[in-house]
Amino acid sequence: MIHKKIIIIGGGVIGLGIGWQLAKAGAAVTIYDRSEAGRAASWAAAGMLAPLAEAHSEEPELLKLGCQSLERYWQWVTELEADAEMSVGYRLEGTLIVGLEPDDTHQLRHLYEVQRNLQLDVNWLTGREARDIESALSPRVTAAIHCASDYQVDNRLMVTALQHAYQKHGGVLHGNSTVESVVIENGSAIGVRTQHGFQNADIVILSAGCWSAQIEGIPEAIVPPVRPVKGQMLALQMEGGIAINSVIRTVRARYPTSVYLVPRTDGRLIVGATSEEMGFDTRLTAGGVFELLRGAWEAVPGIYELPILETWTGLRPGSRDNAPILGKTPVENLIYATGHYRNGILLTPITAYEIAKLVLTGETSEIIAPFQLGRFLR
Ligand code: GLY
Repeated sequence: MIHKKIIIIGGGVIGLGIGWQLAKAGAAVTIYDRSEAGRAASWAAAGMLAPLAEAHSEEPELLKLGCQSLERYWQWVTELEADAEMSVGYRLEGTLIVGLEPDDTHQLRHLYEVQRNLQLDVNWLTGREARDIESALSPRVTAAIHCASDYQVDNRLMVTALQHAYQKHGGVLHGNSTVESVVIENGSAIGVRTQHGFQNADIVILSAGCWSAQIEGIPEAIVPPVRPVKGQMLALQMEGGIAINSVIRTVRARYPTSVYLVPRTDGRLIVGATSEEMGFDTRLTAGGVFELLRGAWEAVPGIYELPILETWTGLRPGSRDNAPILGKTPVENLIYATGHYRNGILLTPITAYEIAKLVLTGETSEIIAPFQLGRFLR
């Protein structure tokens, strides 16, 4: 039992996940979100749990963190579904990364070699072998990488489940409640200022996604280097014999946008995503939607007939090195859990478990130590 008052700035999956774990441990937790909790990047995401498919040879620490988080997903989902009394749509069908043209196959082969050098569990498939797994794939698919252990979760269900579980343990959630500033006295965070005035806390946790750099009161030198990276997305309704079970990603050497298709249990097929440096602009564009539909249609021609259910944009919280910023800061009692960029849903369990442990014990675990803000201050 911990008798501490915790304020969390930002009620996305990261803030809610940490809040849930701390409320469960007996802390008095309050979350403030600038709009409706969980409706920003957490809602916009596709829910892919894909450390292998998104692996880069120059980001070994991030790959390790992603794999460690994926290893804890089963425990996370079991605990969350029991607490929230609902499913979060965790699915284990794996991911196929497909190439369509000779240039794509070269790029795919390069990715496969990177993955093999990192000793990841991936398999090279011919186009025919890929179609044996997903018959809706185009006959033009020439080769594929099968990442059998890259899974998915329904991120929107996870948002709802986390809200239920957090509130069930007494967590307080204030939506449409902007934190204007963190209040620091003698080098220590003592609370925050909202539109309702000063709120004191023993510990303040900043998990405000791409808005994390906008909270006043934090010394300029330690403002987290996080910026918005826009992603346009859409959802189709699977019907008429189009039934996809795996996550499908394309490699497209000649086009600006590679796409992914993520099938949901309720029949939605999520198609994403552009990656654009457009600041806080959240407008959909004709070109963005066109690139998504073209990429999805090339990989799975049958999508041509499917109804469009929804279009949206999200803002990924990108840090300077694409990795999250986790742990203590030079200001005592101010903790960061932000900058999860393309991996927020994947990294939710490890972030929530390890940041909660940090708050409860005061100790930074070896797992999150490489991701502290200090790496940008050296
Ligand atoms: N992780 C998928 C994306 O950021 O688009």
